[in-house]
Parts: sequence; structure tokens; C-alpha cells
Amino acid sequence: MFKSLSPLPPDPLLALIDLHRADPRPRKVDLGVGVYRDERGETPVMQAVKKAEQRLWQEQRTKSYLGPGGDLAFFARLRDLVLGADHPAVVAGRVAGVQTPGGTGALRLAADLVRRSASDARIFVGTPSWPNHVPIMATAGIDCRTHPYFDVAMQSVLVDVMVAALGEGRANDAVLLHGCCHNPAGADLDAQGWARVEKALSARGLVPVIDLAYHGLGDGLEQDLAPARGIAARLPRAILCVSCSKNFALYRDRVGAILVVTESAEEARVVQSVLESAARVLWSMPPDHGAAAARLVLEDEELRAEWRAELDTMRARIAGLRQALAAAGRAAGLKLDAIARQKGMFSTLPLTPAAVEGLRRDHAIYAAPSGRINVAGLTLEDVAPVVEALGRCAGETLRG
Ligand code: LMR
Repeated sequence: MFKSLSPLPPDPLLALIDLHRADPRPRKVDLGVGVYRDERGETPVMQAVKKAEQRLWQEQRTKSYLGPGGDLAFFARLRDLVLGADHPAVVAGRVAGVQTPGGTGALRLAADLVRRSASDARIFVGTPSWPNHVPIMATAGIDCRTHPYFDVAMQSVLVDVMVAALGEGRANDAVLLHGCCHNPAGADLDAQGWARVEKALSARGLVPVIDLAYHGLGDGLEQDLAPARGIAARLPRAILCVSCSKNFALYRDRVGAILVVTESAEEARVVQSVLESAARVLWSMPPDHGAAAARLVLEDEELRAEWRAELDTMRARIAGLRQALAAAGRAAGLKLDAIARQKGMFSTLPLTPAAVEGLRRDHAIYAAPSGRINVAGLTLEDVAPVVEALGRCAGETLRG
């Protein structure tokens, strides 16, 4: 039966984890998959999460089933964190949603919801994007329309191109947006860009699907969430796909949620039933442990404050690394200034495949094949050798 199958290539980002692990060189730098590392190069469990897990271990009396929606109290807390408890859609009971296995689960449910709502709906995706975005949508049977979002050579967002592409949209088409800290560009729409995109969505009746995986790691939690909150307040419908992988450092526990803002409370009830039914078929119910820990953090004032402080430390560290990279680039005559303006974990450099290969082969530096680097994977000590290696492997483009 399996004879007809051909092997598929490994995921370009996840494959780097194994390659880096297998590299015997003592000094190696992993700038591949998006995980935050501290100054010791570790990805620690956050203290607030650790304390919540301890409490969970002591107090949890059962691991019986919860249902396809997952932990409803977690969902409510996360909804209020992301949108704000006083958001007009929350107050009016116009937000449906469920806990999901990570942001990926939320994106998959979003795709299902869009497809079930309008079988001919398409989704517009700006490129480059997270390499899993188009496969998730396409696997759910949605026609993906891509348009350029970011000019890697110029390090600029192509807002005119994006707005023109959305002008081709039909009512009920969806548009995938990065809420903040664009993956992989690190370059977000500015306020004017968001306003133009919102106008295009509104004019053509398009539904935003906003991927929120890095809030808190750009300008701060509230600032990073502001564009998504605004769109969800002003448009009749919006889908928010939320991940707790990065900002709760719960990566492998797979914690996330889909929030669907609907036009009315009645519509929210229908959407809720569709989400629960789709989740039941896909994974029956989401894993509990990480979400329960995140719920305890969000419920407890002290733990919540501790978590916010830890998140701020992470954000400040990433911002410092961005400044250090840009400064070292200036000293070496390399054009890395845009990195200092960009936000969140990633930047994408104009690196050829040969340059990416050279970094890995000759310098044990692992970047994604697209030229994306995970700035949050660096230590300050790594900055000088990484910039020197960039000069050797990609000097021509970066000096150009
Ligand atoms: C990334 O972009 O590196 C992260 O979102 C991890 C992943 O699953 O790809």
C-alpha cells in the first residue's frame, strides 16, 4: 500500500534542530528554529510557569477529559489578555473560540472555519511568511493567493503591493496577517500601513486571520496587541490565532487558542459549535498541562506580574541583541542597520543559499535556508563572530 508514496522533504526549520544537534564542533550558533535563548544559550522554563506547574502538581485532582474546547477558564483568561476584557466584542459576547494545540492548531481551525463558511473562499498570504502557513491552509483545501510583502534586499514592507493584491479580493476571502513581530521579516506594517490594510479589508468584505505568536517580544504586550485589537473592534469579523509557545515559553506543551470575533452573539454561538465540532475531528481535545499552567499564571496576580516582568526581560534582551548586531555590522561595513528597527525574534537577511551553506559549513552558524535568522537565539558573545562570518560569506550582498 505505501509503495506509491515518495519521501517528502523535512520541514526546513525543524530539520535545522537535528543538524545543529549533530554538529560536533564545540562553538556553534543555532539561529534556526524560533526559540528564545537567555545569555547562557538556554531556553528556560519561565519562573512564573514553573511555580504554576508546581501548584498544578499539588492541587490537580483529576486528569479526566475536558472536551473539545479545552480549558474554558484558560480560554477566557487568554481572550481577555489578547483582546482586553473591555473590548467591545468581548463585552457583547461576540467572541467564539477554543483552546488549541499551539498556534498551529488555531491556524488549522481557522482554515476549516473559513472553508466551511464559504467553500470558494481564498486566502491572501504575503510572502515571505512562516513556511507552514501556506501548507496549513492548502491542506485544509483553501486556495492560497500569495503576494509580495517584504523586499529582502531593501529590507522594506511592500504595503502598496499588499493593498493592491487585497484589491483583488472577493467578499468572504480571508487575509493572513502577522499581528506583530513578523515571521520571518521582523518588519511590521506601521500605523499608516495597518490603516490602509484595514480599509482594503473593509471595502471588499475580507476576513482577517491574524497570527499572534510573538506579542510581548516587540514593543511590549499592549503595543504589540494594539493593531489586532483595533481591527477586531472595527471590522465585523476577525479570526485571531494565538500561540503561547514563545511568550510563555511553553513550546513543546502546545498551548494556543483561536478567537473568532463575530458580528453578533448569535453568530458567535454558531461559530462556537463549528469550532468544537472541527476540533473533535482533528484532535478531539487539546493537551491540558501547559494551558492549565498558563491559566494559573493569568489568574494569580503575583504570578501574572512575575510573568510580565520575565517577558519584559526577554523583550529587552532581544532589543539589545538587535542593537548590538547593527552596531557590529556598522563597524564591519555591513548593512545590518534594519535589524535594529525590526521587531521580535526574526530578521531575514539577503543571503544566497551558498552564503547560508557557507555559514553552516565554515562557521557552524545555522540560519534558515531563506536567510532568516533567529536573533533571539544569539548571545552577546556570539554577535562579533556571527557578524564576522556574515562578512566572509555574504560580504558582497551586505556591503553592496
Ligand atoms: C519558527 O518559525 O521557527 C517557529 O514558529 C517554530 C516553528 O514551528 O516553525
